[in-house]
Amino acid sequence: MKNHAKARAHTNIALVKYWGKANEALKLPTTNSLSLTLDRFYTDTSVTFDEQLSADQISLNGTALEGPAARRIATFLDLVRSQAGISSKAQVTTVNNVPTAAGLASSASGFAALAAAASRASGLQLDHKQLSRLARRGSGSATRSIDGGFVEWHKGFGDRTSFATQVAPADYWNLNVIAILVNQQQKQISSSVGMQRSQTTSPYYREWEKLCKHDLKKLKMAISNRDFSCLGTIAEENAMRMHALTLSAAPDFSYFDADSLKAMQLIHQLRATGIPCYFTMDAGPNVKVLVEPEHLNAVLAALTPAFGANQLVVAAPGPGIQYLT
Ligand code: ADP
Ligand code: DP6
Ligand code: CO
Repeated sequence: MKNHAKARAHTNIALVKYWGKANEALKLPTTNSLSLTLDRFYTDTSVTFDEQLSADQISLNGTALEGPAARRIATFLDLVRSQAGISSKAQVTTVNNVPTAAGLASSASGFAALAAAASRASGLQLDHKQLSRLARRGSGSATRSIDGGFVEWHKGFGDRTSFATQVAPADYWNLNVIAILVNQQQKQISSSVGMQRSQTTSPYYREWEKLCKHDLKKLKMAISNRDFSCLGTIAEENAMRMHALTLSAAPDFSYFDADSLKAMQLIHQLRATGIPCYFTMDAGPNVKVLVEPEHLNAVLAALTPAFGANQLVVAAPGPGIQYLT
């Protein structure tokens, strides 16, 4: 049995977001979601199952992991071991080319890369649908990082039916996403905790579920027509509806910081001058700007004095899972 594998997975930015679980243990979502995989942010993970080890050994960015983050990975490895019918512990080495736990979807690229590397190292041969189901058990957003380009996560009604499929490949539409890195520190409230609190306490949660259905329909139309203003409008509205669920939770919380608000205001101003650009934000203060390549320089020119060129990362649609060994 080949007991080693290394894989790369890219992060994704949700345009219609996942923000709540119908089943915590299986990580089944309350709604479908649709994302764009990004070329500039990714995780490389290698896994070696070794009979000599007495416990899983995990390093993230060169440092040994302990506590809840290590347990989350070990629990995921238990799932892979049970599917593969093996019992060896593993050496896991993972490197994030994306800030960890800062709202830039490290859990998506992290668990997608781990699903691919661990399953292959264990001897399992999984297709994209099976890999997507497996990645989901690590982090919901990882379900959508197995494929490149535009990807939809079908919520399904059980483990077998909850997986993602590609809506359009990375080269279908030449778009850019500017990540404004306003703060790369780890968030206080993880996505898992934030969505659970929103779901259980926001009075607007049912409305969110209903609106996501409409947003998804419109977004798929926008993608099929390559209608940028429609895509951007839906993404921005959907993101703000998600953040309204955190503001309306009890106790209330927010992923915004002062610079996030400054970035959003700048995008509104730019749009008022006729430059088509839209923002979205995940569970963290870093704002992402959607823009077509022809307007990229104009948007960068407006953002640079406010945030500095080093804080602006320009991404494009990225690929699906890749095996590196
Ligand atoms: P993010 O916005 O970065 O996705 P989350 O709160 O969703 O933040 O998840 C962050 C958690 O994801 C980390 O605390 C860790 O448990 C997990 N994670 C991050 N990077 C990796 C990785 N490379 N491999 C496995 N798990 C990871
Ligand atoms: C705001 O997938 O990180 O990025 O499933 O609990 O690990 P868990 O949460 P996670 O949540 C992502 C939330 C989001 C929206 C999205 O990616 O769809
Ligand atoms: Co996450």
